Parts: sequence; structure tokens; C-alpha cells
Amino acid sequence: MATNKELQARRDAAVARGISNALPVYISRAENAEMWDVEGRRYIDFASGIAVLNTGHMHPKVKAAVARQLDAFSHTCFMVTPYAVGVELAEKLNELAPGPSPKKTIFVTTGAEAVENAIKIARAHTGRPAVIAFGGGFHGRTFMAMALTGKVAPYKAGFGPFPAEVYHAPFPIAYHGVSVQDSLDALEHVFKYDVEPQRVAAIIVEPVMGEGGFYIAPREFLQALRELCDQHGIVLVIDEIQTGFARTGRMFAIEHAGIEPDLMTMAKSLAGGFPLAAVVGKAGIMDAPGPGGLGGTYAGSPIACAAGLAVLEAIAGEQLCARARALGTTMMDSLRDLQREIPAIGEVRGIGSMVAIELVKNRDPHSPDPELTKALTRRAAEKGLVLLSCGLYGNVIRFLVPLTASDAILREGLGIVADSLRELAGTPTRTAVNA
Ligand SMILES: Cc1ncc(COP(=O)(O)O)c(C=O)c1O
Repeated sequence: MATNKELQARRDAAVARGISNALPVYISRAENAEMWDVEGRRYIDFASGIAVLNTGHMHPKVKAAVARQLDAFSHTCFMVTPYAVGVELAEKLNELAPGPSPKKTIFVTTGAEAVENAIKIARAHTGRPAVIAFGGGFHGRTFMAMALTGKVAPYKAGFGPFPAEVYHAPFPIAYHGVSVQDSLDALEHVFKYDVEPQRVAAIIVEPVMGEGGFYIAPREFLQALRELCDQHGIVLVIDEIQTGFARTGRMFAIEHAGIEPDLMTMAKSLAGGFPLAAVVGKAGIMDAPGPGGLGGTYAGSPIACAAGLAVLEAIAGEQLCARARALGTTMMDSLRDLQREIPAIGEVRGIGSMVAIELVKNRDPHSPDPELTKALTRRAAEKGLVLLSCGLYGNVIRFLVPLTASDAILREGLGIVADSLRELAGTPTRTAVNA
């Protein structure tokens, strides 16, 4: 079999540079929270394919469900001759979505597509054009999703013009001195300076900012958004694409805020590695677009829907919400211990198993250290751990360990984080991490 180096050279020659590449490591096999590359080297996976594998690589239930579905048929198109697995998964998501209103679901294929469709539905329902999103937020790489994304490089630079009538307000981030009140005041300013609330179709927000840096939206902020949307007839879209499916210790992160979204976007861990996304929302809003207005050839692939049903079974059967909280406690305790030792760790934050450290210079929240962050992901990979960075300034390490990972694997991975950080930014004398 080709080596990592050979494959990397072929990749560089064959694949356009716009597709980024975190590590020159080519995987040949993966199971639960571990992966092996083409040279037989083992890695612990703290990235989960960017939050896709809350149920781990190759979960036996997902494997079996997909094999069963493959034995039956792989595609008919849900818009032509539908199938039971699609109906059943829609019913289950409608039940799981928080709040008392009856719900309906549509399936699409990627997170960005779910975001596009949520905005289409909100516009069709309200008859209004404008959408408000938040600085630092990430909603995908298609045109409306790009417009909503609040980070220029690398996502938007050179790709404009974007769809009109998109406005941004600051996301509340206490660590960076932006309070809930600051964000709410800024929203009022958007209504004063840019667009009257009667022309706003939707506000879209991540309950925990993912790509933007794992900043947790305070409960009172999300509740205030709910009130604002109710006051002005605006559709509140909660983007659960990265936060969903037990990651934060609840099935959906918005449950921590105790509010009912109008629409939710879902993808990633919904189908354990198979491409599936959904918009789930209040039936009266979801039914606004007419027949044929929504959909797609592969939207709700039967294989992905079968995987999705198995994922939901695994989350319930293995109590992965509780497991996310337990893993999160271990991570937070261990990383806070490390923070006392390593001044470059400016903040440790998390909710359930959505945990991050922010790396800064001179203990200053406003002096991000993206170089150290890059060096840490590289050093950890050399030691057999796959880590992912994020953040507006590229100085946050996000921990996305599969919720099915064992305590031993978690401890081993955290040990590699500690050793790598000590080598790069700390005192090399101490060796053990209290994980
Ligand atoms: C919150 C959020 N929304 C939307 C997306 C876009 O999803 P996809 O990459 O599947 O299009 C992502 C992907 O990282 C995301 O984290």
C-alpha cells in the first residue's frame, strides 16, 4: 500500500488547494475512537471527523443498519418513491425536537444545505427578506450559508458578491469582553441602522459556536432572542449542526436554554458518518413552501436514514447524553489542572463534551496564539492524537472525542495534550496529567 508521503504528493497534485488538509495522514481503518493509517500507525481521534462521530467510528448498530439497508436498496429518491426509514427518522426527530408545538422535518444532504433550506422556509413563511446572524458564526460554504457565516478568511474572501439582506451582530463572549447586553444592544442597532424588524425573516444562531471557537451562548441570551423573535414575528433558527446529538450532554444544546426554536438545522452526528442533514421545526412554518420547493436528488438517502435511526438508538441505549456529561467533567478537570501549570491556556470552557482551550500570549485574551495552536496539533499528531483547532483567530483547540470513547482512551489522549503543551509552552519536569 502507498505510504502517507506518497499519497500526500498525489493528493497535492490531484486535489485543488481550496480543500484544506489538517494532517498528512491517510487512514485505512477506524474503530470507535481510534484510527490506523496506511502505515499501520495508531491515532486517537479527538476530532470525530469534525463532530460527525458522536457515536464513534463504525458503531456496530450503524454498521448493521447500513448493511441491512444495502441489502434491500440504496436509492430511489424520497421525492419519487419514498421509503419507511425516511418517514420513521422524520417522526423520531419530530418527537425529539424540544418544545410542545407539532413538528415536521425535511431531509437534505449537508449542513450548508440545511441552513439554505431553513432560510428558504423562514422567507416563505414570513414573506420577508432579511436574515440576522452573528460575528464568528459558521453556517457552511454555499452562498447563503457563506453570507451568514461571520468569518471572512478563509470562508468568504474572494467569493462575493453574497446574497443581500444579511446582517451580523456580535456574539456574546464574556472572555472577550462582549456581554449579553452588548449583543442585545447591537441587535437593536441593526434594527436602527440597517433593517426594520418587520423586514427580518429569521435570526440564525449556534447555541454553542462551533468553528468560531466553542463559545457557549448564555441561556439568558438565547431566551432574549426567543422573546425578540416573538415580539417581531421573526423565525428563530437554531443551528445544531455541530452541537446536536448528545454532544453537549442534552440531545440538542438549545435544551439547556429551555426555549423552543422555530426551526433547527441538523447534520454531522445525525447519521454517524453518512451524509444526512435535516431541518426540523414547527409544522406551521415548515409547511410554508409549496410542493417541489424543497428537496434534492439525494435528500434523505435511505442508507443515511437507516444510519440515523441506528444513531438515535445508540444514543438512547448507551445513555450518551449522560456519558457526554461524564467525559466533559473529566476533560474540564484535567484541562483546568493543566491551565494552572501552562499560562498559555487562557481559558478552559465547555458544556457536556463540547470542550475547548483557548491559547493566548501573556495571559491576555486579546493576544491570540495561533502559532502555538498549530504547533500543538502537529506535536499531538506526532504522538498519535488527532486534534482540531478553531476560532476566529485560529487559537482554540476543540475537543470532539466520540461519546463512546472509553475512560482509558480519553485519559491517554489528554495525557498527549498535556505532554505536547508542556514541551511547547510549559515546564517539562512534570509528566502526569490528572485525568
Ligand atoms: C454550525 C454549523 N453549521 C453549518 C455547518 C456546515 O455543514 P456542512 O459542512 O455539512 O455543510 C457546519 C460545519 O462545520 C457547522 O458547524
